[in-house]
Amino acid sequence: MNSQPELRVLLSSEEIEARVKELATEIRGSYQDKHPLLIGVLKGSFMFMADLIRRLDFPLEVDFIRLSSYGGGTESSGRIKVGHTLRSPIKGRHVLVIEDIVDTGLTISFLLDYLRKKKPASLKLCALTDKPSRRRVPLDIDYLGFTVPDKFLVGYGLDWDEKFRYLPDICFIEEES
Ligand code: PRP
Repeated sequence: MNSQPELRVLLSSEEIEARVKELATEIRGSYQDKHPLLIGVLKGSFMFMADLIRRLDFPLEVDFIRLSSYGGGTESSGRIKVGHTLRSPIKGRHVLVIEDIVDTGLTISFLLDYLRKKKPASLKLCALTDKPSRRRVPLDIDYLGFTVPDKFLVGYGLDWDEKFRYLPDICFIEEES
């Protein structure tokens, strides 16, 4: 991959906005009387989280967690450590985890196990995108925005080597032929 990759739009900001609105309607239906705790997984989920919660017009709380894989590379190693931890008590809360993308599923499986041990009243997952072709562990996504192909995605929070998170669209990097 060269230093100026060619980007093509996979999901436009308009498509994302429309789907986020639909997800918010679904989430409102289940959570409006539950005062849920929404936990965003940093960094990638920050933009999705910000847009989603602006559509949720009922009492809720927000927190963030930072997870990272041991070891480098673009593949998830499956060995995850918690960086920035949660301040919010989890026990007895209705918890909804917010992710930008589920790929192998290793990161989110780790997080769901970690949270489950803290005895929430309920625990569900909302992911903007899902790449099922890459899955290595079985996983149910309760609220899903889009199923995406096995391409390297950037924008709307997603990065390539920390670049392109700011893009309003979700784009894929065109492979060199
Ligand atoms: C991305 C994404 C998920 C994880 C998904 O995070 O935000 O947390 O990878 O991959 P997996 O399903 O294969 O585990 P990343 O580690 O790139 O960090 P970032 O959110 O800070 O960009």
